Amino acid sequence: MSDPTLFAQVKDAANRADPYPLYARLRENPVSLQEDGTWVASTHAAIGSLLHDPRVSSETLPPADRPRTGNPFSDWVVKPIRDRITDAHRPFIFRDPPDHDTLRAAVMHQFTQARVHEMHRRADTLVAELLTKKRGDHEIDIVCDLAYPLPVTIICEMLGVPAEDEPRFHEWATQLATALEPDTLTDTEKRSENSRTFETISDYMGGLIAEKRKHPKDDMLSGLAAGGGPGFPAMGTYDLIATAILMLVAGHETTVNLIANGVLTLLRNPDEWRRLRDEPARAPRLIEELLRYDPPVQFRTRATLAEIAIAGVTIPPGAPLVLLLAAGNRDPAVFPEPDRFDPDRTGSRHLGFGGSLHYCVGAPLARFEAEAALTAMVRRLQKPRLIDNPPPYRAGSALRGPKHLRLAIDGITD
Ligand code: HEM
Repeated sequence: MSDPTLFAQVKDAANRADPYPLYARLRENPVSLQEDGTWVASTHAAIGSLLHDPRVSSETLPPADRPRTGNPFSDWVVKPIRDRITDAHRPFIFRDPPDHDTLRAAVMHQFTQARVHEMHRRADTLVAELLTKKRGDHEIDIVCDLAYPLPVTIICEMLGVPAEDEPRFHEWATQLATALEPDTLTDTEKRSENSRTFETISDYMGGLIAEKRKHPKDDMLSGLAAGGGPGFPAMGTYDLIATAILMLVAGHETTVNLIANGVLTLLRNPDEWRRLRDEPARAPRLIEELLRYDPPVQFRTRATLAEIAIAGVTIPPGAPLVLLLAAGNRDPAVFPEPDRFDPDRTGSRHLGFGGSLHYCVGAPLARFEAEAALTAMVRRLQKPRLIDNPPPYRAGSALRGPKHLRLAIDGITD
């Protein structure tokens, strides 16, 4: 029997900079019951099996519960109706088939080759501009100066959300991303705060979508609002609002960590920094290794729909489950010398983008954004040195990454 407080320790901010020793201890039992009743899967085999198991549900979002206003009509008539609508139209990351599959297929259909190609080109231009803005400085914060603005601009442009509105929903996106943290699912105050934010961002998106229906443009939200031809009908307004919010939050809160974790890892492995600079074609395999070694999404929550016997334990129905993707990525049964950052690994089966039905739809974007950012930085940053090692981390344990990553530099070349 392993220590049932290990997952609580993973969530503890004191362990944010290096949760990997805790993951190694969790892996001693492929699936373990924690003191709060959560079951944690931590080996590559157990996670892989549960990701593909139809008895495992992604419907972990608690029922919507807007705060009461004190006005009886609002509280007893409007609120229950609006809560029911929100529940029926949750973002598809929190939905099971068949609804999940329909909504996901509609989104995938909008990832046209032309659109992805255009965004790839844009990523290179944006990185160049962001670095040029810092020319002449002797310090750069990788998170604020590059890793955050790049994916945010890309996702806004791809969806067709005006980039000048970004400061308005920057905080909403950060707040909503906490829905992926297990404690937000059980804490009444955090849930109510999230409901409020969801309502505000829904109003914003509702207005934008009405505009897209009237005056469609060549962007993803217009495409989803209009439908994509046979088999891809126009998405209903409530589902479209939830999908737009999901994409926007995912675009804000994940790739930033891949880029920041990437710079941190490269500076801790300076040979790899130099090798990437001399051989930029190494970038794709280096990024796959980063997604294994220090993934932006460390774990995802699920719930069991039925009893599941796995790895010598029996998980009861209705149990909260955590798939510890980052622990599976360091499983020595699959990755020799798992704690070594080694971009020369072959046949990587990392879980950085999840797997099965909910495999990340933004994976191609994330990969080329990281490639644009990392290859430009190793080429242009002169003598970069970490100012804080480890850097300060953001609060999240599921979406994990540095809050700031300050480097001292001698300059930035053209
Ligand atoms: C490095 C960056 C990223 C990482 C590491 C990442 C990781 C993940 C992971 C692990 C999942 C699986 C969730 C689950 O199993 O419950 C996922 C799903 C998802 N991701 Fe990403 N993501 C990244 C970037 C993005 C971007 C840029 C977008 C937006 C375009 C995006 C959109 C989504 C969506 C919509 C889902 C839900 C898919 C579904 O439920 O079918 N992601 N992502």
